[in-house]
Amino acid sequence: MGKRLHLAAALLATVIVTVFCTATLTVELLGTHPQVALVKQLIVFPGLAILIPALAVTGLSGDRLAQTHGHPLVGRKMRRMRLIAGNGVLVLAPCALYLSHLASAGRFHARFVTIQGLEICAGITNVVLMALNIRDGLRISRGL
Ligand code: HEM
Repeated sequence: MGKRLHLAAALLATVIVTVFCTATLTVELLGTHPQVALVKQLIVFPGLAILIPALAVTGLSGDRLAQTHGHPLVGRKMRRMRLIAGNGVLVLAPCALYLSHLASAGRFHARFVTIQGLEICAGITNVVLMALNIRDGLRISRGL
């Protein structure tokens, strides 16, 4: 049960962050301002409302699984999880809230572009860290 919950929460969180990044890039490149504002709003709600619990369940269930594993990759996963959570709480969530606020007010100028660039870099970093945790999770569970 613990392992299945961990797998489900981890994949859900990874898919959500990937969808945030692709939806943002697509609408920024091809969309109109009202479409950008809609995507920014959907990322805040329901996006963050699903992502934050999914990340919390991933971390907690991972911690529980780690107690029965002496595998050397566990420590690396734990360190990556700290970066993922720190990046999410300190960079991604504040950026998402502020971008949604600016977009709903029709303010798409220098500040929006700068924060949008920061959000994309932080989002891609988290997708990479999460992909590495999936790879190492599969290695651990296969006993490699
Ligand atoms: C975003 C973060 C994470 C992702 C995407 C992730 C993903 C995964 C995946 C895909 C598996 C394979 C599950 C299976 O084969 O059914 C796994 C297993 C595992 N994960 Fe994570 N994980 C994350 C965070 C963590 C954390 C923070 C820990 C704690 C150190 C952890 C510890 C483990 C352990 C010990 C296993 C092996 C379970 C077993 O075979 O019994 N994971 N993880």
